[in-house]
Amino acid sequence: MSKASVRAPSNIAFIKYWGAEDLARAVPVNPSISMTLAACVSHSTVEALPPGETDQVLVAEEGGALSPAGPGFSRRVTEHLSVLRRECGSRAGFRVATRNSFPSSAGIASSASGFAALTLATTRALGLTLPGKELSRLARLSGSGSASRSVFGGYVEWPQDLADEALAAAPIATATHWPLCDLIALVETGAKEVSSLDGHRRAATSPHFAARLSELPRRLELVRQAIRERDLALLGPVLEEEAVELHLIAMSSRPPIFYWNPATLAVLARVRELRAAGLGAWCTMDAGANVHVITEPRDEAAVAAALGDTPGVTRVIHDRVGDGPELDAPHLF
Ligand code: DP6
Repeated sequence: MSKASVRAPSNIAFIKYWGAEDLARAVPVNPSISMTLAACVSHSTVEALPPGETDQVLVAEEGGALSPAGPGFSRRVTEHLSVLRRECGSRAGFRVATRNSFPSSAGIASSASGFAALTLATTRALGLTLPGKELSRLARLSGSGSASRSVFGGYVEWPQDLADEALAAAPIATATHWPLCDLIALVETGAKEVSSLDGHRRAATSPHFAARLSELPRRLELVRQAIRERDLALLGPVLEEEAVELHLIAMSSRPPIFYWNPATLAVLARVRELRAAGLGAWCTMDAGANVHVITEPRDEAAVAAALGDTPGVTRVIHDRVGDGPELDAPHLF
């Protein structure tokens, strides 16, 4: 039976997916736009087993040996394998192994890269070569909507076109078009207390949810234009507005969700100081305390040094826009 291995990257959203029409199928309330990363990747090997065989899920910590996954992770993986079996008309069992390039305790979302890698490797292990749109749709069905963007490289838009059943993401610019950097200032380790899934579930209970939706058409257009024109001064303010508003909605949801910690605010303040000193650096955050600082290669070293010096920052991961999944990665077993 055949085996396939894929490395799929994580992505950082400029316009966030926050709130779902249908959470299980990750049908978003709004369009989102992201940048696919290069260094933060999930590496997956999937082997198709004879029909009816039980799925096996293995994981490896950064640099460590493979061992059976814990029950929570195992269940999410096997649920998605069942979706893929149904969608691809297969009865195969699967042996799956996954390793992230970043420590799972780093507090960086791994579900986008993980489910993109699982989807790509599983379809390839079944001998299927599917178009990007179909792969994006299948990745979305994992329930991790952001995974639908991670099957492509460069800059990616996931529209909210309910008339198109695929509800798939699509690339809008290549990585070489605009080589942006993402310096990830780690200020928390360990799993976050409230999952993105719960955040989506509660989002519409915030009085600020509707206000953000009315702002989005303007923000989406500005982000598209900034990417087209490679204009960080245009992109930056929209990035920060959007990220702060995601957290405003989280903090005002019922019950509220607080993802930030004091070091998050320290990084935001430090980045404002860097801008006042003439550097181009702008913050965004996902559903967590860590801060992604978007900058250009000419300012990368100076910004990274300043972030590394900020109290509460335990590590700075240097990432940048990437070309998307690597389809013929080495096998993990
Ligand atoms: C804040 O439901 O895709 O990152 O599966 O945990 O990655 P995970 O979350 P998902 O929601 C993503 C929430 C977000 C914004 C975004 O990436 O668009």
